Amino acid sequence: MYTPSFRLDGKTAIITGAGRGIGRALSIGLAQAGAEVVLLSRTLKDLEEVANLIKSQGGKAHVMSVDVTDRSQIYNCIKHVKETIGKIDILINNAGINIRSSATEVTDEEWSAIMDTNLKSAFMMSQEVGRIMKEQESGGSILSVSSVAGHVALRTGVAYAASKAALIQMTKVLALEWGDHNIRVNSIGPWYFETPLTEQLLANEEYLNDILAVTPLKRVGQLDELVGPAIFFVSDAGSYVTGQTLFVDGGMTIQGF
Ligand SMILES: NC(=O)c1ccc[n+]([C@@H]2O[C@H](COP(=O)([O-])OP(=O)(O)OC[C@H]3O[C@@H](n4cnc5c(N)ncnc54)[C@H](OP(=O)(O)O)[C@@H]3O)[C@@H](O)[C@H]2O)c1
Repeated sequence: MYTPSFRLDGKTAIITGAGRGIGRALSIGLAQAGAEVVLLSRTLKDLEEVANLIKSQGGKAHVMSVDVTDRSQIYNCIKHVKETIGKIDILINNAGINIRSSATEVTDEEWSAIMDTNLKSAFMMSQEVGRIMKEQESGGSILSVSSVAGHVALRTGVAYAASKAALIQMTKVLALEWGDHNIRVNSIGPWYFETPLTEQLLANEEYLNDILAVTPLKRVGQLDELVGPAIFFVSDAGSYVTGQTLFVDGGMTIQGF
């Protein structure tokens, strides 16, 4: 009775940015936990590689090329998933970008690209999926991949930081608005993990040492270390948890200085 279920059998999960890095890891992890996964990004080739791996392990995966900054592409995608699979239990808003311009140099185009990809896309996806989850008696669970950069000030660029801080606040407001429909909305905030987004930075020894100096666990994260926290939030194990952000950060955000 007191052992919660971390399994996702019978659940349908949509994951954005599923072709590489964190999204790829979460897709494989959710599929291994039993979910039927729908993988989205703009690059079909990446998605097919992930889907083939999942299928080779006995899982169920579908791929769709979707630019998550485009409302009509999102609308058509969600409509298609609803019509073909019938329900959507889990949404992972993971797609994101960064352009590391300093505050005096960042252009309007860079600001818009970052905000649209990291924040507006997560809102549009949540809104389209949330409408369907509201109609479902079983509700649903939405998890966004925010960042430590949305909580403490880092030299990651002001637009990126602002987009992730807003994503954390959006998580709370959606949790508040949709709680009575049993839709839980949460976020995980990674510190540094090795992905195509960060590989150049982490290859710089001086930068890496700066990171490790403020990381109590003294290492960057491995991608599979995000899977457990994500599954906790979207499974029945997290059934009374909503509006929260969990920093998966090797202890980075606990320090006074
Ligand atoms: N890696 C880290 O250390 C770290 C730390 C904190 C937070 N995060 C966050 O974690 C998330 C994933 O990061 P990552 O490191 O895994 O990045 P990544 O390796 O660059 O992968 C990003 C994924 O998002 C997709 N994507 C980007 N723009 C898109 C768009 N407009 N429409 C659809 N898909 C799009 C990419 O596919 P296409 O380009 O093919 O569309 C790709 O599959 C991001 O939100 C990032 O901010 C990462």
